[in-house]
Amino acid sequence: MFDEIRDLYQEVVFDHNRNPRNFRVMDDATRKIDGFNPLCGDRITLYVKVNDNVIEDVSFQGSGCAISTASASLMTEIVRGHTEEETHGLFELFHKIVTGEDTRTNFDELGKLAVLAGVRAYPARVKCATLAWHSLEAALKEDAETVSTE
Ligand code: FES
Repeated sequence: MFDEIRDLYQEVVFDHNRNPRNFRVMDDATRKIDGFNPLCGDRITLYVKVNDNVIEDVSFQGSGCAISTASASLMTEIVRGHTEEETHGLFELFHKIVTGEDTRTNFDELGKLAVLAGVRAYPARVKCATLAWHSLEAALKEDAETVSTE
């Protein structure tokens, strides 16, 4: 099962890096945050529009590696339409999955989030995969304007 996830992960990273979804500035964002990975210098700017506690829109800009770009792109698709609490839960689940704390081998119930479990095959790239998610978490907490993976 994990081999399938890893192969799917490689395909999805390739696709989302070549054609990132929601890669745009959002003029009417209610929150905006810069995410930074000091190990490599990659940066993303994340835009979030929250309306009545629901993530109505998410977009991003910036220059990052294939994994960080693809992870940000997938994240924008995964969290849209969820409440802030649900999104926080998705962040926690995502974090456990990519760090291997969640050791499940059946990924059926995870939907698109399952693909990101493939990063487990590349432990050195976990920070790349989490950059956008940490940025989103900080944006929702409104506790910073810049967030770093270190
Ligand atoms: Fe910089 Fe991946 S190498 S975020």
